[in-house]
Amino acid sequence: MRGGASTDLSLPVHIAIIMDGNGRWARQRALPRHAGHRAGVKSVRATVEHAARRGIKCLTLFAFSSENWRRPADEVSKLMNLFIEALQREVAELHRNKVRLEFIGDRSQLGDGLVRKIAAAEAQTANNDGLHLVVAVAYGGRWDITEAARRVCRKTVDGDLQVEEIDEEMLASEMQLVGIPDPDLLIRTGGEQRVSNFLLWHLAYAELFFCDTLWPDFREADLDAAIDYFSARQRRYGHTGDQLEAAEC
Ligand code: FPP
Repeated sequence: MRGGASTDLSLPVHIAIIMDGNGRWARQRALPRHAGHRAGVKSVRATVEHAARRGIKCLTLFAFSSENWRRPADEVSKLMNLFIEALQREVAELHRNKVRLEFIGDRSQLGDGLVRKIAAAEAQTANNDGLHLVVAVAYGGRWDITEAARRVCRKTVDGDLQVEEIDEEMLASEMQLVGIPDPDLLIRTGGEQRVSNFLLWHLAYAELFFCDTLWPDFREADLDAAIDYFSARQRRYGHTGDQLEAAEC
């Protein structure tokens, strides 16, 4: 689905964030990498609160990629514990603030404890009508597309779907983020300028905002700067600028 209309057209409906720089933040302070991830949770809280205040409808955070399993076992295990801890500590408050929490990614890779906490948090907040907060854990864009292709193939093999019925909308309906408009704005912190296998399908028309701020330092003003950048863009979806200006008259 393409970014839809919001009340304020200059605001992104859906912001996606690659939260990068935790390790470097910790190294600058001679702390273990895990201290950077812990500090990153505070940025998550500040960003969620501010996004809700700014009227953003959906926020998707890349917390752990399919490739992050390659990190040292101790870092991975501490990160998984941090997710569990954050869920335990934050869900009640998120629920009070009407946040709807959802996770995307390959749950078959996660431990039972985390999977149970995720399912409970999703169930508890399912009917909330505030900010839709999506957390990507064990997620990869290629994994997402491959899984969708596999499901579509299965349906055609089973005779439930004709090859001619396969189109973009149909394929997207088999991916994660069903029912949520595609991100309008992608933010990546930490100075790198790449997409790193995040939401490859869904970022097709996203505006890209890269900043040097390390994720644990990311606060309200950084989010505002990204939103201001977005507001100044003209989104053409293949049209010319002249066509869009004529349509506005
Ligand atoms: C990337 O920085 C960050 C991660 C792989 C983990 C992100 C996790 C959090 C922010 C923790 C909390 C998240 C939630 C949703 C509760 P990096 O380690 O690659 O940093 P570096 O590039 O400086 O090494």
